[in-house]
Amino acid sequence: MSAPSEISHRAAELRSQLHRHNRLYYTDAKPEITDQAFDSLLRELQALEAQYPDLVVADSPTQRVGGEPIEGFVTAAHSSPMLSIDNTYSFEELQAWYNRTAKSFADTQTIDSNAGSLFPSADAVTCEARLILEPKIDGVALALRYEKGHLVQALTRGDGQKGDDITQNVKTVAAIPLQLETREATPPDFLEARGEIYMPRAAFVELNRQREADGLDLFANPRNLTAGTLKQKDPRKVASGLRYYAHGRGEIPPSFAATHGQFLEQVRRLGLPTNPHTRIVSSLKEAWRFISEFEQTRHTLDYATDGVVLKLNDYIQQDRLGHTSKSPRWCIAYKFAAEQAHTTLLAIEWQVGKTGKLTPRATMEPVPLAGTTVTHASLHNFGEVLRKDLRIGDKVVVEKAGEIIPQVLHPLPEHRPADAPRPHAPDRCPRCDTAVQIENDSRRLQEFEVYQRKVEREKTKAEKENRSPAAIPPPEPIGPLDETARYCPNPDCPAQFRERLTHFAGRHQMDIDVLGEKTIHQLADAGLIHTLGDIFRLHEKREELLALERMADKKVDNLIQGIEDAKPRGLARVLAGLTIRHVGRNSARLFAQAFGSLESLTDANLEDLHSLEDIGPITAQSLHDFLHSDAGRHVIEELKQAGVDLTEPRAPSDSSPLSSPFQNQTIVLTGTLEHFTRDELKTKLESLGAKVTGSVSAKTHLLIAGESAGSKLAKAKTLGIKIWDENQLLQNLPG
Ligand code: IVH
Repeated sequence: MSAPSEISHRAAELRSQLHRHNRLYYTDAKPEITDQAFDSLLRELQALEAQYPDLVVADSPTQRVGGEPIEGFVTAAHSSPMLSIDNTYSFEELQAWYNRTAKSFADTQTIDSNAGSLFPSADAVTCEARLILEPKIDGVALALRYEKGHLVQALTRGDGQKGDDITQNVKTVAAIPLQLETREATPPDFLEARGEIYMPRAAFVELNRQREADGLDLFANPRNLTAGTLKQKDPRKVASGLRYYAHGRGEIPPSFAATHGQFLEQVRRLGLPTNPHTRIVSSLKEAWRFISEFEQTRHTLDYATDGVVLKLNDYIQQDRLGHTSKSPRWCIAYKFAAEQAHTTLLAIEWQVGKTGKLTPRATMEPVPLAGTTVTHASLHNFGEVLRKDLRIGDKVVVEKAGEIIPQVLHPLPEHRPADAPRPHAPDRCPRCDTAVQIENDSRRLQEFEVYQRKVEREKTKAEKENRSPAAIPPPEPIGPLDETARYCPNPDCPAQFRERLTHFAGRHQMDIDVLGEKTIHQLADAGLIHTLGDIFRLHEKREELLALERMADKKVDNLIQGIEDAKPRGLARVLAGLTIRHVGRNSARLFAQAFGSLESLTDANLEDLHSLEDIGPITAQSLHDFLHSDAGRHVIEELKQAGVDLTEPRAPSDSSPLSSPFQNQTIVLTGTLEHFTRDELKTKLESLGAKVTGSVSAKTHLLIAGESAGSKLAKAKTLGIKIWDENQLLQNLPG
């Protein structure tokens, strides 16, 4: 049904208002309405679009929360190389750059002596001033391409020649306009702005705080977090709160700007955020003054900076100087040294995160550093503690990475007290006393695999040549310094139990939707569940359940029934639900289908587990460890007792006569299907041996296109990939 004209009018008006308020907020930093008012406009538009889907346009503000997960990123060539910048920490080098730059103009033209500037007067007409200075933001470089005012491509720097196409992810970033502003200027046919995408400190601290609570590795600085989140395969998981400043030209029409200052002004008028802390100067002295001022003010900004970038303002001058293979000659970054402080390491404590990870944390004599007092720092893992050779009582050097997170850099052994004790790592979980599992650097493990292969190859070769094999030196044995993590593997560990149970009951695992997070907390608070097995005994505790708040008869029935219904889900889902390190949904399915039952999995040795295609040695080892640990055996016994199905139909193997037409096929689903939900069909096809992925690429074998399929269908057509509609699918499905 197409929308009546007053409705499409209203939608257009809402879109334009939302774009405007977005710009006022992110680009002009002058919001006119509250966040709530903004949300209410957004919701109104969402409601209209839900009612009349034909109102949805690609760059509607409602389309920010991106499409589906993608399998990998497509790379694309940059319009011109994305270079890096020459850095310096010293005034002398900065001066040398300035003089060199000036001299290169002096060779071709006369020096403008009266202006006190080192640059030629011939350029004075187009060059209002000589250098333009900007904060150097510690973020991730991003090239944005707009065509006819619409955002069409976002590329990372990549290797400088080509970058990853992260357009879908970038579209979720509210600070980046989906369409350029038309009120003050007309967008050119095409415009490529390069700039920095970054995460403000507050958002970074908050995200890391959540990660710490979840027992996940912390991001060392906002830049790593930004880079990590932009490479998310699922656009919906791109962290909100990212910001962007344009700081340079990519491919632009020749008449767009004659200087960098003009470029910034133009793109700002078109709605792209640019850094207000930008200054144009005409001497090194002025530049130095700006740098000294900025060194103070930068701590008050809500994003991390690590220096000031100095650029020739005039494009003619820039182009004349050109670039080396690595960096432009017309620009240099003056970097600030990271701030450091000395203090004393008082203790190392161990914390158990929600995933079971045990993390060492340093407590130090409080010391002021870059605006705050530092008392604690994560030491990441015990290998790190040993590699740094830290002792309790050591004087240590601390630094704030990305100006935010304190890090212990190294001890000062010359100040070490004679009796400073070596730190210890717990062998048992501080919460539940289960023996911990240690993970070592996977690269070191690979060294051993490579070694093994070399030995084999040499043996074969020597046999052929009828000689004895040459000795190949083995890698250094794996030792304590290679440790990268320590885990408590106990699914019932109280430090982690609720999280693990939430995961176990989750949609893709046991799918017990009556057992949501709230209910789990309620049951755990009331002391009714302590182990995974306890949930299957809840039916024996009807009275206690009824005594709980918001638990009427009907709800208790539903709860007990819901849990009962989950018992036959099968081994793949059980394994995926047990939070075994490295064993996710996919590998759980592979294991379950290959071995058919928990017994055969438990009987299998490490090589059997490893021999499965797509299963690596680390995953195999992890499952093996779990199945043979006390904690693992215990939870499995409980599930067995409860009558949970621990078997799985075996997948037909390649050579079997049962082999399905979907075996080993990479399939993409798109559009709306009548007979299945996406998840159902995915599970079905996977059980038939297919791999179901989120995006169409040259590797796709088959696209299944339902109603109103869009860009994936178009792409599959261009790539000449086999396409089926739902009918063709139904004809080919067994049974
Ligand atoms: S101009 C040829 N301006 O620093 C490169 N870069 O270390 C011209 N950066 O990859 C870049 N703030 O991502 C420029 N105000 C700024 C910047 C900036 C941060 C980044 C940029 C570049 C990296 C080089």
